[in-house]
Amino acid sequence: MLQERIPDLSQCVEPDRVRKEVYTDAQIFELEMQRIHETVWIYVGHESQVPKAGDYYTAQIGRQPMLMVRGKDQKIHVLYNRCPHRGNMMCGDRHGNTGEQFRCSYHAWTFHHDGKLKNIPMMDSGYAGTRLNKDSPELSMKPAARVESYRGFVFASLAQDGPSLKAFLGKSIVAFDDMCDRAPEGEVEVVPNCFRVIQHSNWKLFMENQIDALHPSVTHQSTGRAAHEVEKRIAKQAKAGEALSYHMLSAFATVTIDKWDNFQTLNYPYGHCILTGYMGLRPQDPDTKAYDKIMIKAYGQKRFEEIVGVNIHHVLVYPGLSVQSPLQQLRAVRPLGVDRTLTEIWHFRLKGAPEAIYRRSLAYYNLVNSPATLINADDLENFWKCHQGLSSDGGDWVSFARHHGHDLEQEGEVSSAPNQGTSEAPMRNQMKAWARYMQGRA
Ligand code: FES
Ligand SMILES: [Fe+2]
Repeated sequence: MLQERIPDLSQCVEPDRVRKEVYTDAQIFELEMQRIHETVWIYVGHESQVPKAGDYYTAQIGRQPMLMVRGKDQKIHVLYNRCPHRGNMMCGDRHGNTGEQFRCSYHAWTFHHDGKLKNIPMMDSGYAGTRLNKDSPELSMKPAARVESYRGFVFASLAQDGPSLKAFLGKSIVAFDDMCDRAPEGEVEVVPNCFRVIQHSNWKLFMENQIDALHPSVTHQSTGRAAHEVEKRIAKQAKAGEALSYHMLSAFATVTIDKWDNFQTLNYPYGHCILTGYMGLRPQDPDTKAYDKIMIKAYGQKRFEEIVGVNIHHVLVYPGLSVQSPLQQLRAVRPLGVDRTLTEIWHFRLKGAPEAIYRRSLAYYNLVNSPATLINADDLENFWKCHQGLSSDGGDWVSFARHHGHDLEQEGEVSSAPNQGTSEAPMRNQMKAWARYMQGRA
């Protein structure tokens, strides 16, 4: 049993290294689903995924199949996707519209959009004299303990107690502000549907990689080089717009490993992290200028400068979300098993922005984040190889010692030191949060 093999779970995590079992032990996985994913705020989806009453979208939270549904009163509810009668999953499809009510496909119990029981066929005759009565909450679809939304992004927590969504997000809330503020109308809209990728590796490998400034110029070097060759040819032909898309890939080669040290990571309580820099580029092509004009009209020059001046490459909301706000990308991580992880890859449209700006987001989505791109394939191969290596007897520890001891700490926030952007501070910070959660301290 877990207790015998690993007497003290806290011994799995040292400040600069972590035991391999953290990634490979099925019982540790079960415990982290319970104490982390089924406790903290987890991203369910965006409100624009369910625009009309009865629209629903399913999402996994920890081990729990959940669904998000829009009620007739426009309110969004997050419910367990389970019929209280005999446990049938209420919605077998990934998304759709349930009409006026949920109706179980097994014995036709029906429920309102908020999950409350509406009707049981022949309730009175069938249940007369039994312990069941219509008002018992056990006869309704169970709601998530807490649901909150921030600027259209819906989160749920399956634990009654804990910090509010805003308190939990802390400074990582900038991910949603940065994304929405870049829209002339101050809102974003999801572009259906997402890509789904199942990785044959532990979920934490993905979360660590998202903010790993050391890897891009190595892992993605060949992809970046090939793109850079094409980019140079296009630049000679002076097709600036197309060159911008190639730049999204070529940067992986042109931003060499030493340059990544110029960026910075900011690490926060609960395991969240921001990687600054890189996407701060402000191209001066006609499409960008047209967008700037609309933004200045919407916000005024001063506020516009503030909005486009936010210099973020990536925000990680631990334990299950990775956001690239300047290009309206979001990846939700849904652990399926100790060695199986689903990622949902979404992108968004800035409301009120010209179509060309959306095409830029779409280009990044396809070129960098989609399953079709070499970038994603490069990473997936590493994840699988890491999981294989960690499952072996070739060693007991994973090292996060890079720049350990040099990070700057202030009021619970840890930043990598100047010119140490490739510090493994984000991994150390995530594992520190992990250890806290695993001790039952949410
Ligand atoms: S299982 Fe749903 S009505 Fe019977
Ligand atoms: Fe990568």
